[in-house]
Amino acid sequence: MKIVKTIAEVRQQVKEWKSQGLTVGLVPTMGYLHEGHASLIDASHRDNDRTVVSDFVNPMQFGPTEDLESYPRDLEHDAKLVEAHGGDLIFNPEPSEMYHEGFSSFVDMTVLTQELCGLSRPVHFRGVCTVVSKLFNIVQPDRAYFGKKDAQQLAVIRHMVDDLNMDLEIIGCPIVRESDGLAKSSRNTYLNEAERKAALILSKSIRLGQDMVKKGEKDCSKIIEAMKSLITSEPLARIDYVKIVDCATMQQIPALDRPALCAIAVFIGKTRLIDNFFTEDV
Ligand code: PAJ
Repeated sequence: MKIVKTIAEVRQQVKEWKSQGLTVGLVPTMGYLHEGHASLIDASHRDNDRTVVSDFVNPMQFGPTEDLESYPRDLEHDAKLVEAHGGDLIFNPEPSEMYHEGFSSFVDMTVLTQELCGLSRPVHFRGVCTVVSKLFNIVQPDRAYFGKKDAQQLAVIRHMVDDLNMDLEIIGCPIVRESDGLAKSSRNTYLNEAERKAALILSKSIRLGQDMVKKGEKDCSKIIEAMKSLITSEPLARIDYVKIVDCATMQQIPALDRPALCAIAVFIGKTRLIDNFFTEDV
């Protein structure tokens, strides 16, 4: 397993692999890897001859008041995890390698990005689409792996690949959770002991929503209200949003008459956490 810092080194390695007829999978990450990321690396290792993991805290997708500076980083730990899960190459560039002076081209999407996380994080998806496009251009993978944990991100990436005729397959992977239900996230490290307990309200409300769907509830406002009232029973929690949207458009829907995504974002203290479920998976 190799760690490289430059675009030229990635290109050289991938060229060598491709000349041998090997397939390449890409797992884009911001590092501080956990079992959620590991599940994507496992999937890529299963489907492809070689796996590249990008490990880059992308400044462009953070708003001015967000946690860019404090975002956790640990390359040594990441390298061990990637190696243990069969990854072949880590691409860990400096911001200046990805964004040279005078950088001024962006990938912007006018649909899907204005809802859910796009409302509270207005520059976020432009940063994600731009960096992911660059990673696709640099690595030129056959397949790229994204978690359903970031369901809106997955939909946005699929749409971008379709719109811009990018020649690769996007694979969505299930959410990996802690044993008590909390969705794994690099941001969970921000939580103190009391907040960590309080954070369970996210997965509890997801289970409540799933149960209501299982029992046949079709009225989205009833499901949302029940989930909201459970979340607000937790004093350390502050709701950013609880929404049910059409999977294809990310627009809110009144009734469960088509494949839908129920997505939530909740502040626990200062930490913003997300979780979701697809009605089709229930
Ligand atoms: P990051 O938050 O590091 O996540 C990298 C990938 O891991 C994403 O596809 C995310 O959905 C997936 N992931 C995170 N937690 C997961 C979990 N508990 N279960 C399953 N998958 C999980 O998402 C980003 O980085 C960035 O926006 C990126 C795409 C790398 C662009 O900078």
